[in-house]
Amino acid sequence: MDTNKTFTMIKPDAVAAGHIGAILDKITKSGFKIVALKYTMLSSQKAGQFYEVHKDRPFYKDLVSFMSSGPIVAAILEKDNAVEDFRKLIGATDPAKAEPGTIRNLFAKSIDANAVHGSDSDENAAIEGSFFFSAFEKF
Ligand code: CMP
Repeated sequence: MDTNKTFTMIKPDAVAAGHIGAILDKITKSGFKIVALKYTMLSSQKAGQFYEVHKDRPFYKDLVSFMSSGPIVAAILEKDNAVEDFRKLIGATDPAKAEPGTIRNLFAKSIDANAVHGSDSDENAAIEGSFFFSAFEKF
């Protein structure tokens, strides 16, 4: 199991607000190397599959609807201690609780439209990365 990779998405709110460049700049300036990158859009079926782990949570339906409402950017990132360091960089799920200077503090609007996703474990980083990228798309 890799401990130096994580997976992220720039969510529809941040894409629509024109923050792709600023967010990728912050990620790379924080020491993460982009090993895979894709600008795409999730169907509601694909969004439902990606977030299946949350299927019994009350916010699941809104989450799936929001994540399939517009284009997203998906990426695999590499850095020592990637999962933990990236979660520090993005800040708390609820942007109202995110530390100043974190990506969600700077760019997110609400707990639903929270600008970015970050994997919560090495195992999920591998699963989520493979959801979007084949071996030929990772560099
Ligand atoms: P993300 O890191 O993409 O993982 C699941 C998403 O569900 C989360 O970010 C939030 O955008 C969304 N969400 C909405 N409500 C909640 C909640 N109460 N707790 C956790 N996640 C929530």
